[in-house]
Amino acid sequence: MADMIWAGRFTKQIDERVNDFNSSIKFDSRMYKSDIEGSIAHATMLGSCGIIDKGESEKIIEGLKGILADIENGSLPFDPAAEDIHMFVESELTKRLGATGKRLHTSRSRNDQVAVDIRLCLRDEVKEIRAYVKELIGTIITLAEGNLTTVMPGYTHLQRAQPITFAHHVLAYAQMLARDIGRLDDAAKRMNVNPLGSCALAGTTYPIDRQMTTDLLGFGEVMGNSLDGVSDRDFCIELASAISILMMHLSRFSEEIILWCSWEFKFVELDDAYATGSSIMPQKKNPDVTELIRGKTGRVYGDLNTLLTMMKGLPLAYNKDMQEDKEAIFDAVDTVKLCLKTFIPMLATMRVIPQNMRAAAARGFINATDCADYLVKKGMPFRDAYKATGTLVHICIEKGLTLETLPLDEYKAVCDIFDNDVFDAISLDTCVMQRNSEGGPAPDAVKKQLAALKGKLDALG
Ligand code: ARG
Repeated sequence: MADMIWAGRFTKQIDERVNDFNSSIKFDSRMYKSDIEGSIAHATMLGSCGIIDKGESEKIIEGLKGILADIENGSLPFDPAAEDIHMFVESELTKRLGATGKRLHTSRSRNDQVAVDIRLCLRDEVKEIRAYVKELIGTIITLAEGNLTTVMPGYTHLQRAQPITFAHHVLAYAQMLARDIGRLDDAAKRMNVNPLGSCALAGTTYPIDRQMTTDLLGFGEVMGNSLDGVSDRDFCIELASAISILMMHLSRFSEEIILWCSWEFKFVELDDAYATGSSIMPQKKNPDVTELIRGKTGRVYGDLNTLLTMMKGLPLAYNKDMQEDKEAIFDAVDTVKLCLKTFIPMLATMRVIPQNMRAAAARGFINATDCADYLVKKGMPFRDAYKATGTLVHICIEKGLTLETLPLDEYKAVCDIFDNDVFDAISLDTCVMQRNSEGGPAPDAVKKQLAALKGKLDALG
């Protein structure tokens, strides 16, 4: 085994097992670009502040660019025996430049280096996740626009409750997702600070210019405390929690789609390209995508828990435990991207079956509140109207009828305020049309919601 960069004070080679155990190259090599970008900024600053010779700084920058190009064109594979991506790039630089390469790590530690790398890397990941979420909201908006008058039952306790429209229902998810974008943006903003120059933990005696690397790397500000600079993983935890909430929303939506696909509901049908069959039951068409999203949500919560638990007992400043941050946060990021990438086209191609939604809305007495409201509008106190309607529902159940099919005589026997106009008042269309309070299911209210949502999305950028 080659000598480790830090081998100076050691009298033995590292044990193979310790080296394997210690190594993070398997999962941190994906940060190669950020690592090189951070190193270029650092080398630029070292040269400009006269900490290393300007000419050497330029050579280092050229060398780093060459390494980046070779990694990307496939001619420089990662060495699985390297301790991590930072060591890999630095040793490669030294291989290529000799003594000049050895100057790069002046006034820097892997502790601030890794803190920069993860931030740069996650900053890009957030942009990708955010773009997917926006695309998903757009898909939901299209679905809603095509279903403004598609009446369906709204549920509480998974019991039919009051009539709504499919547009109203799916837009609830668009609202949640818009908040998710806000949370991702918050996490990205707090993540975008520069720890470089914290060095190992206690800053440095060299005359570094932290504002310069901050500007070069596009960070919003310099981290104010070097101990915090190398110890902070709040940004990973914050992103993992924003992703967990996003996954929770995808999971709830998935759960509903699973229900809607069942023969018990049959409100929707997935496109054949987004469903799977059974190896034994020829009739089956399974909503595997949505089930997997529901399942993977647990895995992302696990990632969040890994990060929280990993950090909770750590004394300042860097501890090797923190190397565990990457597998957890990258898994959360990869999982949510994978889910979004599959969910969006699945939703876009999902067929809505309005007649089944309407048939379900016609059963379950979901117009009972409207029947009570009819009496209230004719002057009866709500509690009395509620009771009278409850009695009517009971009669309907006994006779196997619905409120729409119960004869007027029966209504009048319970309360003589009822007249023929009750049937119009309790018709499903009236029930939906009249729910035009702000945020309600009436098509006009939904149109306003759509306009406001689009405005919010434009403002989010
Ligand atoms: N691979 C390490 C990590 O991901 C880099 C930082 C190592 N620092 C150290 N002092 N050993 O955390």
